Order: sequence, then structure tokens, then C-alpha cells
Amino acid sequence: MNITVVGSGYVGLVTGTCLAETGNNVLCIDIDENKIHKMKNGEVPIYEPHLDILFHRNIKANRLNFSTSLQEGLDHGEIIFLALPTPEDEDGSADLKYVLGVAEDIGKKITEYKIIVDKSTVPVGTAEKVEAVIGKHTNIEFDVVSNPEFLREGFAVDDFLKPERIVIGSSSERAIEKMKKLYKPYVRSGNPIIVMDEKSAELTKYAANAFLATKITFMNEIANYCERVGADVDKVRIGMGTDSRIGKRFLFPGIGYGGSCFPKDVKALHKSGKDSNYDFKILDAVIDVNQKQKLALIPKIENYFNNSLSDKKIAIWGLAFKPETDDIREAPSLEIINELLENNCKITAFDPEAMPNVEKKIGNKIAYANDMYDAVKDADALIICTEWSIFRTPNFDKLKGLMANQTIFDGRNLYEVNDVLAENFEYFSIGRL
Ligand code: UDX
Repeated sequence: MNITVVGSGYVGLVTGTCLAETGNNVLCIDIDENKIHKMKNGEVPIYEPHLDILFHRNIKANRLNFSTSLQEGLDHGEIIFLALPTPEDEDGSADLKYVLGVAEDIGKKITEYKIIVDKSTVPVGTAEKVEAVIGKHTNIEFDVVSNPEFLREGFAVDDFLKPERIVIGSSSERAIEKMKKLYKPYVRSGNPIIVMDEKSAELTKYAANAFLATKITFMNEIANYCERVGADVDKVRIGMGTDSRIGKRFLFPGIGYGGSCFPKDVKALHKSGKDSNYDFKILDAVIDVNQKQKLALIPKIENYFNNSLSDKKIAIWGLAFKPETDDIREAPSLEIINELLENNCKITAFDPEAMPNVEKKIGNKIAYANDMYDAVKDADALIICTEWSIFRTPNFDKLKGLMANQTIFDGRNLYEVNDVLAENFEYFSIGRL
């Protein structure tokens, strides 16, 4: 099929590349000329494992092309995916200016039947709005489909190629058949393509992300309580998670969730609720608890240093909001750094991918190390903010030799408490004594 993807950001580029992988002819559109120029020259503009291999393979096979012209995109695709940003508005709602702006252009430029697919995470009712905006400008037939993505950063290619489910929100048989045909190669394992109305599809995405954010937050509260009563959250987690109704995944406590999706989507759903006179009390609590959780290590650090943090040399391992990404949006590390800088600490950080992004954001307020051991030289304490695999099995002897003081504050519970104590380190983690 001929497919157009409007918006070549994270979701758009993964979608376009993975659709090309099964033989579709994909044209990716973006208004950013520089980005299109770079991609035409074979440069992948984002870091995402395995994406580069597919990207280059499909460019070589001439199945993946790029353009800044929306007209060209409209002429090319039978299906037009909208993978546009929906940034958080000041009041927490999702800003639809990009989605509706492109819809307006599509309405003006459309010359034959097209299926317009909302891939961006958009509030309930957006498909209706997109339809109205396009329909204002044209009498040509078209369908609008809601087809939310469930891609995790770091696993996006795998998630796209082998999805647990595909959700298609549409009331048009013609569009549904076409979408099913497009996704058939991706669900050969038998995973379902679930067809529903547009609004339910839009809400499915928000409900899934808000539920997962709530699950994490619930465990963070259990962890905080464990610390007060002397229980071990790791044991509680395993005890709970073996109940198949609960499940083992997403029960890991830590210093809170971050990233481009959970924080934004939870706030947006909360705001949409308000707009419909519904008060999502649980989401209010999730937002509040998560914000506080990002700083859960700070009182432990203050307590350890008897409230005198000034001039303490602190090493930080991990800046990205989670491993396998260079994304620092809403990353707990940034809040921790901010707090430590206000207390006049000297910080040296190491992250395998995210240091350039942090440097762009806060410059030389902190130092950046060449590797994880370089970061801990003369440090009074080490703080772990992201669970990159490389941090899971450090050479403790080497750390001992380098650090001025052998103390670890672990925001991701990477180690068994007894193992670290046996190495003669002081060790503080989340929900364990
Ligand atoms: C998420 C959803 O998983 C994905 O389906 C959606 O499309 C986009 O949002 P992503 O933001 O890439 O994906 O990351 P994910 O791996 O889900 O982790 C989200 C956050 O939760 C991270 O900050 C992570 O550290 C945190 N987390 C996750 C925990 O704190 N504990 C857990 O047990 C799991």
C-alpha cells in the first residue's frame, strides 16, 4: 500500500519505518526542512534501538522516502497517518493545534478518497473534530480513524512489529477493512485487532497509560510505607505480582515515572474529566504522589549528611527517564539535580545516551563524565537515577578505590541490599531497609 505519515517525530518515524518493513511504500512528511534533509541523507534523527537498521534497509529498497510537502503526501498515500505532537497546554489538556492545523490543510488539498488516521494520543472526541475540520473545506469522501500507538521508548520497533493488540476506532467498514489489511502482517501470532468506535479507541490509550501510571504510583506508596514499618517492598512486590489478576509487570517502585507519555497523558485525562464535569480523584493523587516521589531520595541524602550538603561531591548514574533512551523529558534526575544544586552540591553525572540532552538543557551547571567510574571519582555519594544495564553489575572494588565515601542512594533498587552491604558500602534504596 502507499502510506503517508505526517509528522516525523518519534512515533511518526517508527510508524513509517515499520510500515515500510512489510513492503508498504511510505512517505514521511515533516515541516522541519533540516530534519527531512538529514533523513534524506540517511541520518536517523532519534535514538531508538534497532530503528537505524530498518531505516537504512527501507531507504535502500526505496520504500521509505521523505518530503516537506503535505500536498505530495496527500497525493501519495491511500492512508494518511497523523503522528503530530499534542503538547501539554498550560492547564494540562492536550493542545490540538498541530493536529487540527494539518486537518485544515488536508481539507483544502484533498482530491480523492483518503483514510486519515489519528496516531497521536488525542482526547476523546478528536476524531470527530478532525472530521469536522476537513469536511468544512471539501465534499470529497474521506474517513477518520483513531488508531492509538502503544509504543514504549527503547522497545518501539519491537512493539510496532509485534504488538499485543491493535486498536482501530472507526465506524466506516471501508476504512476498517483497509486498516485490518495493513496490520495483518503484524498480528500473525494471533494477537487481536480490536475494532471499536472512535471515542472508545481514543479513551483506550489514555485509560491504559493512566492505569499503568497508577499501578507504578500505588507501588511507590507501598514502598514508602514499607520503609516506615520495616517491610521489604521487593518481597511484597513478588508476593503480590504472582496473583495473575495483578501481574508481575509495572510493580517496580522507584523515584517515579517520567517520559513523554505518562505524565502528559495522566494530566490530559484528568483535565478532560474536569471538562466533562467528572473529577478523576485517583488521577489527582497519582500526579501529586509521583511529583513527590521524584524527590524520595532527597530526605535520605539530607539525613545522611546531617542536613549539610554544601560542597558535597555527588555522582549521578543515569539521567534519562528510563534506560535505552536519550529522552530526559520529565526525568526524575533533573528534579534531583535541581534540588542538589540549590544545596550547593558539586555534581558529576554519567549516562550512556542522555548527556548531550542534559547539557543542552542545563549546560555546565554539572560536570559530565566519560564513563560510570569517571563519574564517581572523589564522590561523597553515588545516586542512581536510571536502571541502565551497565549499572547493574559494577566493580565494587573499583568504586571503593575511587569514591571518597562509600555510599549509594539507589532510586531504582538495582542491587540486593545484603550484597551491597557485604561490599562495605552504605546503601539506601526505595522501600527496603
Ligand atoms: C509508555 C507506555 O508503556 C506506552 O505503551 C505508551 O505508548 C507510552 O508511554 P514509555 O513512556 O516509553 O511508554 O515508558 P515505560 O517503559 O512504559 O516506562 C514509563 C515510566 O514508568 C518510566 O519512567 C519508568 O521508569 C517507570 N516505571 C515503569 C516504574 O517506575 N516502574 C515500573 O514498574 C515500570
